Amino acid sequence: MMAIVFQALESVQSIIERGSDMKGIELMGVEENNTIAAQQRRGDGSQCAFDTPEFREANRITLDVTYMLEAPGPGSIAMEKIEALIPKVLKAHEMLKRGEGDIYDRGILMTGWQNLPVDITKEHLADIQTVAKKMSEEVDVFVSLGIGGSYLGIEATFRALTHTYFNQLTRTERGGAPEIYFLGQNMDPDFFRDTLDMLRGKKVGINVISKSGTTTETAIAFRILRKMMEENFGADADHLILVTTDKEKGALRTLAGETGYRTFVVPDDVGGRFSVLTDVGLVGLAMAHIDIEEFVAGFQAMREISSGNDFWKNPALVHAAMRHAAWCAGKKIEVVAANSKSLYWVARWMEQLFPESEGHEGHGMWVSPSLYSEKLHANGQMVQQGERNIMETFLALKKHDNRIPIPQTDNNLDGLDFLVNRGMDMNHVNQMVVEGPAYAHYQGGVPNMTIEIPKRSAFNLGQLYYMMEKSVSISGYLLGHNPFVQPGVEAYKRAMFALVGKPGFEQEAQQMENQLKGMKRIRI
Ligand code: PA5
Repeated sequence: MMAIVFQALESVQSIIERGSDMKGIELMGVEENNTIAAQQRRGDGSQCAFDTPEFREANRITLDVTYMLEAPGPGSIAMEKIEALIPKVLKAHEMLKRGEGDIYDRGILMTGWQNLPVDITKEHLADIQTVAKKMSEEVDVFVSLGIGGSYLGIEATFRALTHTYFNQLTRTERGGAPEIYFLGQNMDPDFFRDTLDMLRGKKVGINVISKSGTTTETAIAFRILRKMMEENFGADADHLILVTTDKEKGALRTLAGETGYRTFVVPDDVGGRFSVLTDVGLVGLAMAHIDIEEFVAGFQAMREISSGNDFWKNPALVHAAMRHAAWCAGKKIEVVAANSKSLYWVARWMEQLFPESEGHEGHGMWVSPSLYSEKLHANGQMVQQGERNIMETFLALKKHDNRIPIPQTDNNLDGLDFLVNRGMDMNHVNQMVVEGPAYAHYQGGVPNMTIEIPKRSAFNLGQLYYMMEKSVSISGYLLGHNPFVQPGVEAYKRAMFALVGKPGFEQEAQQMENQLKGMKRIRI
């Protein structure tokens, strides 16, 4: 017995000794990280040839709708249904271009996003880049404050184009960019506190973004950071604070007037969720050293591609028609599934764009952002065999930044040597994460389409955003209501203000109290 105990102790001892000699892991069998290399190239100011026809052709995003039609089971969409929709879609397209119909917000025609890609000037982009460069040289950390349309496009684009652990990389690996954080997009005190820990001891710059200037989540975050910055940096805080808001009115505009903060503008005729190509998105992206000229070029390219009235050549129109036909056929949930963590955030941007625009009068499709294959091991069962009220859109990244080869093993216990023998890497398997489910889910009665994105680039994201903005605008006409307003969002704000006792909301508070009094609380 004693001998066994001694033997065990000896082996523990030898493990500890070996452990102490052990070096950190080397990354064998993989190449340098191309995402880092891309960040560094951007940091050096080098640009890709996004203006050439060859580049545009090679980087054109495509829409494959093969599996949208005739899926087996309930809610199948026949080609005739699409054909019948075409005249309505074309009419909507014409009205959109002419600025006709229910597309105004408080008297303002809300289609400014349509021409932004051509209206935006080189001088304006250069101005943003100059401010961003100066700020970037001065700060260690940049925090973007905003919510909804004043937030999602920036984080989506940032995540799509940068390293997963951007802030943990060295500054050189980030291409010289500061660390980037986002606040004001929720009211979670622990998340806020944790983010503050990331700022401790560092020189911080911020951009507070709010078209209205009074959005609670953003305003509270701004109060806290502004106070902290003033206490830490004194008068220097003023030039470390950027404000992006309405060109003449609102609380932030007034404050900027009083303090001299550098301001950027959210145009009147562009709604929050359509604003990623305005200063709302561009300032934050320039701070992360993302090429905003290339981003604009992507929007321009899709503006051209989606301008014609040849339905089957216009991906934005086909996208809108397919989704509308699916909704009419009883599909109420759209799973937007990305095969790349980088595009998952773009699915989150779509989660806002579509429901906030379509969710009126009992209409609209719920958008569920998903990362495949991760989610296939969770709600994949539901997609395959659950209630047939689902359609699916794949965001398929064709070329990842990096290639991960799969190594051979001695014993092939997991049975995967065949992949190695067939020369397949992780990238190849990941393409099947779209093609496999697309086929299987179609067979299971889920119509689905695939948006193929050639690679992670600002140009490709610009194309995708423009296509989606146009599609959702057409969807508004097809559903019969204004996609550029969101009156429903006010209800939660009124209830919240009543609950926290905001002056002016006394009547709502009283109403709420009366209603709640009459309800039996069921708390288990
Ligand atoms: O799309 C929208 O209009 C909204 O999501 C807004 O962007 C969001 O509510 C933030 O509004 P604001 O910029 O006024 O703070």
